[in-house]
Amino acid sequence: MNYPYIKQFRKALVTWYLEEQRDLPWRHTKEPYQIWVSEVMLQQTRVDTVIPYYNRFIEKYPTAESLAYTPEEELLKMWEGLGYYSRVRNLQAGVREVVEVYGGKVPDNRVDISKLKGVGPYTAGAILSIAYGKPEHAVDGNVMRVLSRVLNIDADIALPKTKEIFEEAVTKLIDIENPSAFNQGLMELGALICTPTSPKCLLCPVRDYCTAFHEGNPSSLPVKSKKLKTKDIHYDVYVIRNKDGSYLMEKRMEEGLLANMWQFIMVERDEVENSLTKVEKQYNVILNRELIEPIISFKHVFSHLKWHISSYLVDAIETGELSQLNTAFLTKEQIESIPMPVPMLKIWGNLT
Ligand code: ADE
Repeated sequence: MNYPYIKQFRKALVTWYLEEQRDLPWRHTKEPYQIWVSEVMLQQTRVDTVIPYYNRFIEKYPTAESLAYTPEEELLKMWEGLGYYSRVRNLQAGVREVVEVYGGKVPDNRVDISKLKGVGPYTAGAILSIAYGKPEHAVDGNVMRVLSRVLNIDADIALPKTKEIFEEAVTKLIDIENPSAFNQGLMELGALICTPTSPKCLLCPVRDYCTAFHEGNPSSLPVKSKKLKTKDIHYDVYVIRNKDGSYLMEKRMEEGLLANMWQFIMVERDEVENSLTKVEKQYNVILNRELIEPIISFKHVFSHLKWHISSYLVDAIETGELSQLNTAFLTKEQIESIPMPVPMLKIWGNLT
C-alpha cells in the first residue's frame, strides 16, 4: 500500500473500531497485568468462552501480586474448562518474575517484556499497544487473515516464518497516534467482518483499500497448509466407587498434556477382562465385575490428538493400600474442588 492510502486505511480502521467495538470486560482497563491475563486467555479460546473466566479471574486476582504465589491447584481450578493449561502456569511464572524483578510493574518495552515466561511476540505487542499505547505489532491468526486479504499476501500462514511478513506490514501500517485502537481494530475486523468464510465485505470499513476485495477473491486467502492428522487413542475410564461412597482418582504427571490435573482411572482400551485385571493390579483393588455400568462414550479432541473414551462405573469390593502417591479415594466434595480435564468433568456430570 502506498502512502496516502496508508493514512486513509489507518483512519478508516481506527474510526470504525472506536465506533463499533464490542463492549468486552478487558476493554474497561488499561492495567498491563489485566490486559496480559485477557490476551493469554484469548489465545486459542473464543471471546464468548473467555468472558466469564476473565471476570472471575480478575475478581480473584486483580493484581500481579495477588496471582504470583497462588497455589497451582487453585489456578488450574480457575482455568478448568478453558484448556491449554500450561498457559496459566506460564502466566503465573511470568507474573512472579514481574513481581520479583520489576517490582510489580510489567515492562513497557519489547526487549524486557519478551523475556517473561509465556510472553511471545503476539502477547508482548498486545500488552505494549493496548496498555502502554506503544506502536508495536500484535499479529495472531486473525490479523494474518485480515492483512493477507488487504495486502494480497499469499505466504503460507501455517509456517512460523510467515508471521514476520505480517509483523513488518503492521509496523509500517500502524497508527502511531492510537496503536491500541489500530491493533484491536484489526482483531475486531477479523472477528466481526473479515471472517474465515463468507467475509462481510459490504460492511467492511477498509474494503476500498483491500486488494482481495477488488480482485474478488477474499475467501481464497489466507493460504494455510493442512496440519498433520491428529492421533487417535482409545481409553476405558473406570469410575471406581468405594464402599464409603468415595471414588478413586489419580493425579496426572507434572509434565505434558493436562499436567497435574485429576482423573478417574484410565487405561488404554483392551478386552474388558484385561483392562479390569490391569486396573486391579495397578491400584490394589478388587472390582465387582458382575456390575459394570456404562456411563458415557464420547470423543474429545485436543490440538494434536483425539481421545475416544468409554466410561464405566464399578464398585470396589476390596481395597488395599494405594501404592502410588498420586492416587487417592476422594469424596464428592473433594472431587468438585480439584481441577479436572473436560472429559472427566463430562463423565462426572453424567454420573451425578
Ligand atoms: N483476541 C485476541 N485479543 C483480543 C482482544 N483484545 N479483543 C478481542 N479479541 C481478541
